[in-house]
Amino acid sequence: MPTSERIEVLFSEEQIKRRVTELGREIARDYQGRELVLLCVLKGSYVFGADLARAIDLPLRVEFLGVRSYGDRTQSTGAVQITQDLTAPVAGHDVLVVEDIVDTGLTLSFLLDMLRARRPSSLKVCALLHKPSQQIREVPIDYLGFTVGDVFVVGYGLDHAERYRNLRYVGVVGTTAGTCAP
Ligand code: IMP
Ligand code: MG
Repeated sequence: MPTSERIEVLFSEEQIKRRVTELGREIARDYQGRELVLLCVLKGSYVFGADLARAIDLPLRVEFLGVRSYGDRTQSTGAVQITQDLTAPVAGHDVLVVEDIVDTGLTLSFLLDMLRARRPSSLKVCALLHKPSQQIREVPIDYLGFTVGDVFVVGYGLDHAERYRNLRYVGVVGTTAGTCAP
């Protein structure tokens, strides 16, 4: 593990703030008069979920679902372990799943199947990021922050080996060794 890693900013704090505000307005418009359950998928979406919740001017309930993917990142199997379940049933409720990033789509596809079986009255997805180059499973993303290329991103909740979640921006990790001129 390199001791000094350079992070290249991909989406700045300002850009993210603006986009989250827009998403919040759009969601509030679409769910007008209904009571929303904002279902944040841990750990990656805890920062996005917190900001998004405050950008939605509606009465809402927040739930967290802890998940862990089996296998390493290069060989995702789509098998997902639930590490923390919801605190209340979602049957008959309007559920909006909040994800940090849709990469292969396997995690989200598994979660949507699991949640559908719990009979919510509606089920939609809001993802901060989408990485279409890696997609294996087609999943619907109803609200999307940004699209990213084939790079590993960190920050604003997203980690690399549990680091960088606290960055205020989304960036790409690069090593300092021989990658840029002084
Ligand atoms: P999936 O490949 O769509 O199943 O993605 C599962 C999870 O892997 C995401 O929710 C993220 O938590 C994590 N992940 C995927 N790509 C990245 C990345 O570029 N940076 C950090 N985490 C990622
Ligand atoms: Mg995630």
